[in-house]
Amino acid sequence: MAMSHWASLLSTAAKVNLLVLVVSVVFSQSSLSNRAPEFALTKIEESDIKDDSGKEPITEDDADPEDLEVFYPTHQWQTIRPGQAVPAGSHVRLNLQTGDREAKLPDSENGRSDTREERRRKRLGKVDVDSNSFTAQELKKALAKMKENEKAERKAHEEEVRKKFRPIEQLKEEFEKLNMKMETDYEIMVKLISKFNSSASTLDEKVAALYDLEYYVHQVDNAKDFLSMGGLQLVINGLNSTEATLKEHAAFVLGAALSSNPKVQIEAIEGGALQKLLVILATEQPLAVKKKALFALSSMLRHFPYAQQQFLKLGGLQVLRSLFRQKGMETLHVRVVTLLYDLIVEKMLLEDSQHGDQMEEKIQQYRQVKLVPAVVEQDWCVVVSNLLAMPEHDTREKVLKMVSVLMAFCKERYRGDQALSTTLGLLRSEYEELAAEEQREGDKEGYFKELLGSVNTIIQELR
Ligand SMILES: *[C@@H]1O[C@H](CO)[C@@H](O)[C@H](O)[C@H]1NC(C)=O
Ligand SMILES: *[C@@H]1O[C@H](CO)[C@@H](O)[C@H](O)[C@H]1NC(C)=O
Repeated sequence: MAMSHWASLLSTAAKVNLLVLVVSVVFSQSSLSNRAPEFALTKIEESDIKDDSGKEPITEDDADPEDLEVFYPTHQWQTIRPGQAVPAGSHVRLNLQTGDREAKLPDSENGRSDTREERRRKRLGKVDVDSNSFTAQELKKALAKMKENEKAERKAHEEEVRKKFRPIEQLKEEFEKLNMKMETDYEIMVKLISKFNSSASTLDEKVAALYDLEYYVHQVDNAKDFLSMGGLQLVINGLNSTEATLKEHAAFVLGAALSSNPKVQIEAIEGGALQKLLVILATEQPLAVKKKALFALSSMLRHFPYAQQQFLKLGGLQVLRSLFRQKGMETLHVRVVTLLYDLIVEKMLLEDSQHGDQMEEKIQQYRQVKLVPAVVEQDWCVVVSNLLAMPEHDTREKVLKMVSVLMAFCKERYRGDQALSTTLGLLRSEYEELAAEEQREGDKEGYFKELLGSVNTIIQELR
């Protein structure tokens, strides 16, 4: 049952799927504990709403069950309206575009509608959330949206209930409570920052404050406020804390604030964040700390040629290279390769694009970033191609892309590499088999066919 439940959940586009899984887990758990056996209430995240008053917030349980509106699922996705109850067994998902929750009847078994991505996941036996294909940021965004909607739904519902059932004193009380909940993000961030900055706070409290801050700074405007409040500099200073867990969470907040936020990127590099991140990556630190530092570094460098230039000047590439010599850092390798791939491609795309005068300055900046020559000089060619021996298809997919991009610069190196030619031969036979199987199952444009194509192209170019 559990397996087919999971498998049938794997419908529609893959990215949405991953979130569907997350949301469905929440729902199926809640439906277990729900009072009404056949219905899972759609509003379940009471715990999301901070209520320190110690009093019970109003929930649907206060309302007459007869008033409960029921959602009738069909085979199409339909938006669930606030307060509606969804029959247990329906598939519920969060629409990433609208932030609405939607539900439908479960698909019949083994539809041929599976996308390539799902098939691949099934083959890999993956039903968990893969943070690589579904970035933490996207997830956070979606969850933030969901939270927002929860708030709105909640408010609408409370109003309705109040009108119907509440005596005036209670109404006032509820209203006050409601006001408390409407605390702005700004106010919340001020509190969290002072909690983090206070010498009276325990280590756990500081970590908790950072953990919560990470949620808020994803929003571009919040990140700018975070900057003006002095929070950014505090977090940057946290990178050289003596406590590993503070370093880790500080890097996490920093990475979130930096993501696609040029203003924060500039302030952070001026605040010395780049050096500190490189120190973390270059010295002995727990894996969790390095992972978050690498995340923050990636957010710092992407689409910010000035930072890329400084990164090269400070010997950042050597620092990343050293991760391949340290024990226990294997999980970082593919992330490093992905980062370098993104940086190289980012520059190539800009150089190739049609651009007006306003892009000229940016292009000038990118010209200063001599990443590829440094990559070749430090012999990343072989470091990268060695990763093709990894067993995961996902990893190989990323590495194959990088090898293709490096081909223009590493060709001679690759031609003389006997181990690489053996690996490529093995990959070819493996993917020939998997692609054939895929085709037998009716998937003409399969995932493995694509991987096979990449392998063959590389083999051809090395002839
Ligand atoms: C952090 O605390 C120090 C010392 O109490 C204070 O001077 C500083 O302004 C605080 N920083 C922020 C951003 O609140
Ligand atoms: C971290 O570095 C800054 C300067 O870069 C320094 O002022 C601060 O005291 C350092 N913090 C710790 C805990 O070493």
